Amino acid sequence: MLSKNLVKKLNDHVNLEFYSSNLYLQMSSWCEAKGLEGCAAFLRAHAKEEADHMERLFTYVNETGSMAVVGNIKAPPTEFSSVSDLFQKVYDHECSITKEINGLVSASLKEEDYSTFNFLQWYVAEQHEEEHIFKLILDKISIIGEEGAGLFFIDRAIGGMLGKK
Ligand code: FEO
Repeated sequence: MLSKNLVKKLNDHVNLEFYSSNLYLQMSSWCEAKGLEGCAAFLRAHAKEEADHMERLFTYVNETGSMAVVGNIKAPPTEFSSVSDLFQKVYDHECSITKEINGLVSASLKEEDYSTFNFLQWYVAEQHEEEHIFKLILDKISIIGEEGAGLFFIDRAIGGMLGKK
């Protein structure tokens, strides 16, 4: 059984994963509007992954006899100054999610809730992978450069990463 404190923290995280999903869906729309189909497809697939992360948490909270609650989810931004600006924001967002997960892990240890601690290990590994993949994307953008035909090659490279995670 979860403590009230952990139910609240896990439900807050349900919302954060929802937000992540909406953020990447919105970003895919921005890319689509700019003709960046590879980036759009990658982000749309990632939005689905975030919805899976949300559901995994949602299910866990309910399985413990507590009630998962969907609260208000803020609207994501709609404008980005460039592809590198967009993916920098993705990377920064993922780093902030890692911090939140670490906070959840600490809270579960403090309460000696080893079931939740164990459940959260999947998210710890996932965050490592996500930070890695988005750092790779930022590196690719920086190497290729956005000038001239650069955007075409960036879009192709990111589209080519679809399904590799
Ligand atoms: Fe669900 Fe991208 O962390």
